[in-house]
Amino acid sequence: MVKICCIGAGYVGGPTMAVIALKCPSIEVAVVDISVSRITAWNSDQLPIYEPGLDDVVKQCRGKNLFFSTDVEKHVFEADIVFVSVNTPTKTQGLGAGKAADLTYWESAARMIADVSKSDKIVVEKSTVPVKTAEAIEKILTHNSKGIKFQILSNPEFLAEGTAIKDLFNPDRVLIGGRETPEGFKAVQALKSIYAHWVPEERILTTNLWSAELSKLAANAFLAQRISSVNAMSALCEATGANVQQVAYSVGTDSRIGPKFLNASVGFGGSCFQKDILNLVYICECNGLPEVAEYWKQVIKINDYQKSRFVNRVVASMFNTVSNKKIAILGFAFKKDTGDTRETPAIDVCQGLLGDKANLSIFDPQVTEDQIQRDLSMNKFDWDHPIHLQPTSPTTVKKVSVVWDAYEATKDAHGICILTEWDEFKNLDYQRIYENMQKPAFVFDGRNIVDADKLREIGFIVYSIGKPL
Ligand code: NAD
Ligand code: UGA
Repeated sequence: MVKICCIGAGYVGGPTMAVIALKCPSIEVAVVDISVSRITAWNSDQLPIYEPGLDDVVKQCRGKNLFFSTDVEKHVFEADIVFVSVNTPTKTQGLGAGKAADLTYWESAARMIADVSKSDKIVVEKSTVPVKTAEAIEKILTHNSKGIKFQILSNPEFLAEGTAIKDLFNPDRVLIGGRETPEGFKAVQALKSIYAHWVPEERILTTNLWSAELSKLAANAFLAQRISSVNAMSALCEATGANVQQVAYSVGTDSRIGPKFLNASVGFGGSCFQKDILNLVYICECNGLPEVAEYWKQVIKINDYQKSRFVNRVVASMFNTVSNKKIAILGFAFKKDTGDTRETPAIDVCQGLLGDKANLSIFDPQVTEDQIQRDLSMNKFDWDHPIHLQPTSPTTVKKVSVVWDAYEATKDAHGICILTEWDEFKNLDYQRIYENMQKPAFVFDGRNIVDADKLREIGFIVYSIGKPL
């Protein structure tokens, strides 16, 4: 029986390994993590992440050929293939701070693999890493390997949160990069044969190591670039009376462009787009390519601009002050169908409004009060570095309340900001909400999900992204 061990039981490691276990009953999969609370949750009825369809997959294989454990060394020792899916956040200190990827977690995982291994292994980069990371990992592994042979593969993950299970069941492609040597090709084939249990052969792409590593950064940069492009257009639409949804539709019907990923928004969030582009920018700078670095940096700059533009619009339209006004925040997660708040635009918007002394009442169906308070009191980039976590600041707590109902959040509010596109926000009883709000009652739809004309008929003043007033 082939044994797989995955280091890192997070948003990628957990779902990815659960699907491998489900699709490959003859393979034993152990997912390990240093976080005791995460592993306890994986072994309970309350999984540590909210992801549609995940419970079902885990229930089918947990205890059969899928195991979650904190005994990292034992499972690495026993494995034939070790996936590494640890976090690779942006560095907060030292060389490259604010841009470069922090490979501390990756390096410690690699050193541990080298220390405990007593048999040959395939080591798979599942985390998103800077191009050429495999070279560094190889050095660490071979330096300490006592004659043991390691093959490094790059197998970046392309799932999106909220649709992880769907994406894993039916991926556009699986990418595997390896060394172009006989041993490298053999390792690529071994990993390919696992995915071939359910992914059609033509969708399993194989490349050299550096192409696979770079393709992941490139894919995220291209995706984020589309959002910044449409968001940049949304500003021009607001200035001219064009409607960004009509523009995006017209542009997207060109089959060379395509219709997906052109929704204007309050800005993109999530744990990866910003960090991966900053990482790409840093790599370009290190390779003496400042023009290329500058090009990609613009994607982040437009995203920051979009978030601050949103805040400015709220404040400007509410008579230039939100001081002591109650503002309801509907949605805090970075997108619907996830409880993940990493780099959510809601943090910047809330902090911007708090900067103007607003009182916030926040509701998100999947995010806890603790998480929201922590997010609002944390420094930039600290969220993925557990050691930097600070206690919640009392000044933030006073101005922020977290409630468990959209009607409670909006009661007596002067304005509503919709920051996540949860389906339930489309069908709220807006007549009831209007009656319980201060007048004039404002709606700022950061996701363009409500029917603005209907809300205007009720009496709301509605601001959408990139649409005429
Ligand atoms: P995560 O923070 O949810 O999970 C990482 C886990 O690794 C944590 O539970 C942490 O405790 C554990 N860990 C760190 N160092 C460890 C060590 N030495 N030994 C054992 N466990 C260790 O992160 P994630 O969202 O799953 O992302 C993981 C990687 O995948 C990142 O590089 C990310 O860029 C990439 N990625 C993420 C997504 C996504 O949707 N979240 C999608 C594609 C790729
Ligand atoms: C993204 C990519 O889509 C995945 O392919 C990739 O694997 C992953 O990053 C990663 O490397 O972590 P994810 O961040 O989970 O996935 O979610 P997306 O659906 O890409 O959304 C990212 C952000 O962009 C969200 O805040 C979303 O609301 C926003 N978005 C998305 C828009 O504002 N407009 C759009 O048209 C699409």
